[in-house]
Amino acid sequence: MKKLEINIPGKSYDIIIEKGLLKNLGTDIKKVYENTKIAVITDSNLYDLYGNTLNEVLSENFDPNFIVVKPGETSKSLSTLEHVYSKLAASNITRSDLIIAFGGGVVGDLAGFAASTYLRGIDYIQIPTSLLAQIDSCIGGKVAVNLKEGKNLAGSFYHPVRVLTDPDILLTLPEKYIRDGLGEVIKYACIKDTALFDMLMSIDTKEAMFEHIDQLICTCCKIKKELVEADEKDKGQRMLLNFGHTIGHAIEKSMNFEITHGEAVSAGMLYITKNSEKSGITEAGTYEKIKNMLDHFNIDYNFPDLNMNNIKNYIRLDKKNLSGEINLILLKKIGDAFVKKVSLDEAEKYIAI
Ligand code: GLY
Repeated sequence: MKKLEINIPGKSYDIIIEKGLLKNLGTDIKKVYENTKIAVITDSNLYDLYGNTLNEVLSENFDPNFIVVKPGETSKSLSTLEHVYSKLAASNITRSDLIIAFGGGVVGDLAGFAASTYLRGIDYIQIPTSLLAQIDSCIGGKVAVNLKEGKNLAGSFYHPVRVLTDPDILLTLPEKYIRDGLGEVIKYACIKDTALFDMLMSIDTKEAMFEHIDQLICTCCKIKKELVEADEKDKGQRMLLNFGHTIGHAIEKSMNFEITHGEAVSAGMLYITKNSEKSGITEAGTYEKIKNMLDHFNIDYNFPDLNMNNIKNYIRLDKKNLSGEINLILLKKIGDAFVKKVSLDEAEKYIAI
């Protein structure tokens, strides 16, 4: 079992990482929750896989009420949120009850935002079920839904009371979503941890990866913990987590979300480093190291149909850039990242693909 404590102003909570944890969920939840009623928010794929187990385990100590939404990004919407509020009300969930977010990033964001706003805020526990959620979105309290005008536009910072991570859940995750998470694992290594980078290069099989998966998850969570504790509201160091994301988001959009977020971010890290290395900012050979890493995990970065003008336009229209400047995350070398604020014109030389 691995345990990390997140400390932010006015609040602290634990992340527990343990293979097989799902079987003892009740005991662990009792450490932070005294009442009986729980609303479990999940999606229909996960409900089919884990609904019975969860119901059985939780019913030993609690009164679980399941709220099941459609899988996928479309559920991060105001209409699904309204549906969730109605279900919470129908189950008579009060401010002293608990919400559990059982799912990947979409469920975590949706359930977390519902928890932050329903009855002006009730406690929630994150049980992340994808690699991406286990290493990233379950920590740091960013919760949101999308608006038609853009992703994550209605949201807040609202931290869970506990994060319960069972790496065994990843055994049912399709390969594509393992790669999705791996893109972000590689990102952590690139921005903060050369030892993690070397360790990743030494993993040759899926079995070897699963042998070390709890350590891998814990290492990533520790890096994010340090960044979130230093800069909860994402105005400084936390921005390092956006390495590869400027080009990555544009690629995701340009490819109509046919590739996963992690794959797009991987390509984003590669191309921005190619350009920063050319500019003499990044140590020579860093681009090659990232390229070898992506090859090592079969993460594709060749998108022949990508239209560079679409990417430039996307970055120009991004609402984060309205001031005419953009914060790019660049590497000095593997394990050492920094924020560089540039004008949109200057940004073009770093985002070329
Ligand atoms: N996923 C980036 C962050 O939480 O800041």
